[in-house]
Amino acid sequence: MSTRIGILTGGGDCPGLNGVIRAVTLHARGTFGWDVVGIRNGFEGLYEEEYTDLTPLSVQHQLPRGGTMLGSSNRANPFAYPVKLPDGRVEIHDVSARCLANLAKLDLHGLVVVGGDGTMSFAQKFIQRGAQRIVGVPKTIDNDLEATEYTVGFQTAVEIVTESIERLHTTAESHERVMIVEVMGRYAGWIALTSALAGGAHVCLIPEIEYDPDRVIDAFHRRHGRGVSYSIVVVAEGAKMKGASLSVVEAGNATKQERLGGAAQRLADAISAKCDYEVRTTVLGHVQRGGRPCAFDRELATRFGAKAVDLISEGAFGHVAALDAGKLVAKPIEKAVKKLKLVDPGGELVRTARAVGIELGG
Ligand code: F6P
Repeated sequence: MSTRIGILTGGGDCPGLNGVIRAVTLHARGTFGWDVVGIRNGFEGLYEEEYTDLTPLSVQHQLPRGGTMLGSSNRANPFAYPVKLPDGRVEIHDVSARCLANLAKLDLHGLVVVGGDGTMSFAQKFIQRGAQRIVGVPKTIDNDLEATEYTVGFQTAVEIVTESIERLHTTAESHERVMIVEVMGRYAGWIALTSALAGGAHVCLIPEIEYDPDRVIDAFHRRHGRGVSYSIVVVAEGAKMKGASLSVVEAGNATKQERLGGAAQRLADAISAKCDYEVRTTVLGHVQRGGRPCAFDRELATRFGAKAVDLISEGAFGHVAALDAGKLVAKPIEKAVKKLKLVDPGGELVRTARAVGIELGG
């Protein structure tokens, strides 16, 4: 039987995943002559045994396409999996033993797990339970994995947000409004801060710095005092007002993470309660995860995909492909799951934001 490797994409999708799948397929088949099996919908496909063969033909034209041709699921936690019973009821079961058995049946030379912190922590648990031949590729628009400088998908999200901020500038100015744009990123402010810098925002509120609405309002007053009667505010979905909790639209449980949302409206209400600037909110939502990956993400996806295959060929299991000061390296998978990579409130990005007059609220 020929040598075969597998690949799955888990968690929320992002632009660039197809580039990873393509690079893994081309390198594994072209360089090593290995077969490549795609596991559908993350770990769900491993449990349900839903597989598809990946060939140079099937990955053709995938590099510029958003989403993931393998499908993904952010409810596919094999350790707390919603199993449908014959009577229609759903019960939460640990299905990891069946996943491990299916993995053994596949008899893979290596498995490439493409995911964020959640998916990587499942991969690590499988490694601890004996499925050692796993390597990882970090992806998430949030860019919050400690293991790597950049994750696949982040730069595209930043491009989308930056363009949106740019568009909001002109309408905000025409109507002399405060425009608040809420962006994703979960508990990290990377998307918000990077896009605020790139888009020329005036206020940027990130989870790492609790904000005081009065400071934000003062920033508007200062601008008005200089004769500038509009402002652009970027607020991360995970930003917290001083003394308040996170804005959550749906609580999490064993099978899914909590869903954040409402940060822009909360800020708009706080502003409107204290002054009469005309305020409008825009929630960019999943637009940030959709569509074509930018050139950087296509390149990164290709480098990470090829590196993952190299890691398998070298037997460097339990590692993820990563960028470190621009260099392609391998990092232990624990690095991708141990703690979230957050914006340093005293770091260079924050200092730059302050240097150009962006109000950070705290
Ligand atoms: O982790 C990626 C991400 O897009 C976060 O930025 C966001 O909070 C979350 O996923 C949204 O998840 P869902 O697709 O389940 O709504």
